[in-house]
Amino acid sequence: MTKAIVPGSFDPVTFGHLDIIQRAKRLFDQVIVAVLENQSKTFLFSLEERVEMLREVTKDLPGVSVDFFSGLLVTYMKKVNARVIVRGLRALSDYEYELQMALTNHELDEEVETIFLASSARYSFLSSRMVKEVASMGGRISDFVPPFVEEKLRNKFKERG
Ligand code: PNS
Repeated sequence: MTKAIVPGSFDPVTFGHLDIIQRAKRLFDQVIVAVLENQSKTFLFSLEERVEMLREVTKDLPGVSVDFFSGLLVTYMKKVNARVIVRGLRALSDYEYELQMALTNHELDEEVETIFLASSARYSFLSSRMVKEVASMGGRISDFVPPFVEEKLRNKFKERG
């Protein structure tokens, strides 16, 4: 049984993330989407909200589960007995950061390998940060996130005024 971890902040999950999760599932029997619980990073959505959104939008994908972790990713991976990280690569600008993470994780645990999937062209510009910016200014985000997430974003910015 092959297993892969798709880690991230998912603040919030976008169609770009979903594309990577679905394509990872075609390569591995089991995919665990691992949401970072990090007190020092400021997220728009709480850990519970980020996990809830991911569970909702992946509920019809067999073999995909959603979990969360704090601390080092490699420590979490040992706990769940996984060795493969899958990350999406969009533009060249992602490369340096992604390479740094992949090399650091491999240095921390040589059993851990990172596999990069080229983001689908239609999502290669998409980021959670941009989606939040557009949503905060009342722009249309239905092409970027599933309806459940769109609703959560709308409510979040309504709450904030
Ligand atoms: O969606 P993101 O914010 O690009 O995801 C980044 C993430 C969560 C994969 C990365 O920050 C991470 O793995 N953090 C856990 C801390 C860690 O293991 N650091 C060492 C390797 S960079």
